[in-house]
Amino acid sequence: MPRVAAESEEISFDGGNELPTLGELMKDLEEGHRKKYSGADSPDHHIVDLTSLEIRPVPLLLSFNNLKYDVRGKAATVKTLLNDVSGEVRDGDILAVLGASGAGKSTLIDALAGRVSTLKGTVTLNGEKVLQTQLLKVISAYVMQEDVLFPMLTVKETLMFASEFRLPRSLSKSKKMERVQALIDQLGLRNAADTIIGNEGHRGVSGGERRRVSIGVDIIHDPIVLFLDEPTSGLDSTNAFMVVQVLKRIARSGSMVIMSIHQPSARILDLLDRLIILSRGKSVFNGSPTSLPQFLSDFGHPVSEKENITEFALDLIRQLEGSTDGTKELVEFNEKWQLQVSTEVTTSYKALSLKESIITSISRGKLVSGSTSSNPISMETVSYANTPLVETYILSKRYMKNWSRTPELIIAKIATVMVTGLLLATIYWRLDNTPRGAQERMAFFAFATSTIFYTCADNISVFIQERYIFLKETTHNAYRTYSYVISHALVSLPQLLALSIAFAATTFWTVGLSGGLESFFYYCLIIYAAFWSGSSFVTFISGLIPNARISFIVTISYLSYCLLMGGFYINRDRIPSYWIWFHYISLLKYPYEAVLINEFDDPSRCFVRGVQVFDGTLLAKVSDSMKYKLFDTLGNSLGTKITESTCLRTGPDLLLQQGISQLSKWDCLWITVACGLFFRILFYFSLLFGNKNKRT
Ligand SMILES: Nc1ncnc2c1ncn2[C@@H]1O[C@H](COP(=O)(O)OP(=O)(O)O)[C@@H](O)[C@H]1O
Ligand SMILES: [Mg+2]
Repeated sequence: MPRVAAESEEISFDGGNELPTLGELMKDLEEGHRKKYSGADSPDHHIVDLTSLEIRPVPLLLSFNNLKYDVRGKAATVKTLLNDVSGEVRDGDILAVLGASGAGKSTLIDALAGRVSTLKGTVTLNGEKVLQTQLLKVISAYVMQEDVLFPMLTVKETLMFASEFRLPRSLSKSKKMERVQALIDQLGLRNAADTIIGNEGHRGVSGGERRRVSIGVDIIHDPIVLFLDEPTSGLDSTNAFMVVQVLKRIARSGSMVIMSIHQPSARILDLLDRLIILSRGKSVFNGSPTSLPQFLSDFGHPVSEKENITEFALDLIRQLEGSTDGTKELVEFNEKWQLQVSTEVTTSYKALSLKESIITSISRGKLVSGSTSSNPISMETVSYANTPLVETYILSKRYMKNWSRTPELIIAKIATVMVTGLLLATIYWRLDNTPRGAQERMAFFAFATSTIFYTCADNISVFIQERYIFLKETTHNAYRTYSYVISHALVSLPQLLALSIAFAATTFWTVGLSGGLESFFYYCLIIYAAFWSGSSFVTFISGLIPNARISFIVTISYLSYCLLMGGFYINRDRIPSYWIWFHYISLLKYPYEAVLINEFDDPSRCFVRGVQVFDGTLLAKVSDSMKYKLFDTLGNSLGTKITESTCLRTGPDLLLQQGISQLSKWDCLWITVACGLFFRILFYFSLLFGNKNKRT
């Protein structure tokens, strides 16, 4: 392993005063090594086996000074969420931010991670400003408070997918596997590696294990700075302790860990290196946990042996917050106390520049480097690890895997469609070609098309459940948004095809639709297209509106309007002119017209023959001989003879009567397919602009 480069010689940087990009850092690293090890056997870079390697600390120091963060409340009031907070963390250390709920812990973590705008104050890493830089983004990771994972994947699969998304393409599959294995060991998840994550309905790993998997997903690339917001909340004390133990191990491997914690147990406190206690956005203690008892007794509130020190401190703060003077006295006391303590100068941290430190860290295996020194990681961690095609493939694979574990969902959906189909079959059993039969055919088609669209409404939940996974992964540049949109569409296609065939096969012959096999084939196609456009529309709505209920209401309302304006309840020529545009944007119009054309476009089929024309009218009661007499008179004036077998209304006549004259059935098919594509594109834009993973 290479030693700290700067101990003996300077590495030259061409980056000027600006922060180098990671790519430049890598180049420098390579050159630095070549100089240092010229001739000698050049060292290979390995993924660090964290269990066997003892890592010498690389001096890294993150310090933040006088952070202040205001938000504008209602009526121009300003609320100060962070007020003059300072502190520092070194590599190998865990900094814990303590405080009652609402004290500003999450705000501080977010501020340091560069997730808030309008922050005042400075955040420096080895003396260089890093806040809001790409560099900080590259070398750090942020673990959210909630676990957002695919429930049906195993621990190992989850980490493996994370490695495929985040580790450089140049890294071979076996190296990625190695990294995942090392991480599983580091997280203490060896026994749970092949257990699924699980959710409410499926038993999976325990809460503590799930939290560790979440952390693992975020640190797959082995970041140098790790931010966590309450990683232990919701866990019992044993699990919480294990999580912090894991964090300690990560810190020991040369990272710095910055986390918030609500109330650490005594055992957890032992693992922490630095504490900041916040009260209403101000820091009331800043130092090592071991100095806390001394601090409190200096302040005039000694802690007894038996008491939990943090509990005692938080109680004291709560008491002070309730008093008239508030915590002012304590804040001032802390400031004075800081001045006394901070005489120990951290010169060693000034010796190494930021670039050198990061390079050394990377050469130790941080930010998971490539396998050889001639091919260290490139800029790929900044941009994307994979090509769009590979991303789409991995995403699709992950969907398939997740779904294949719950086949009952897909089977249930197909079964529902088949039940609807069979129900329709019994009601519209083998329709004939009488005027009434024609009417019933149209009713069947109207119901069938609307059912297809309403069946799609359950797609709302698909994206809404995944939304946070998507947000998290795309903020890490795990993949491009359009790869996600494409894979989302691709994996839905086989499912929709199965639904279409199930529905078409259960209804086509039983209802007695005409046209034989060719017509059946078209019928399948148009149903497939309708499912596609319906599911695309619903997906778009769920991307646009994150709230499932509102999404549902919007979807159902829109579909109802489509049904109303689609041409079944009211013909096109009867729709008021100011509503006619809605007729054309009605998603149902096109499939409905398509199936009607498919059914009725044969001019040789007759739906009103001879005396059937009087069916359902007052004249039906008149005797047949009278009716024929009437026909004779009518025929004479038309110059033809009307008999019992004369066709008075053919299929195409029916279509005309329905106002279906503008498009061919293939036009309708293409328009339906295009609608689906259009909504997928809108879905893409809704993801691109509507989902910002930052607080304001
Ligand atoms: N955007 C905001 N506007 C107004 N107040 C906010 C906003 N975000 C957070 N707060 C308030 O700031 C305080 C600190 O929040 P937070 O950092 O989440 O606390 P903690 O994580 O310590 O529980 C809370 O009182 C919260 O209500
Ligand atoms: Mg919080």
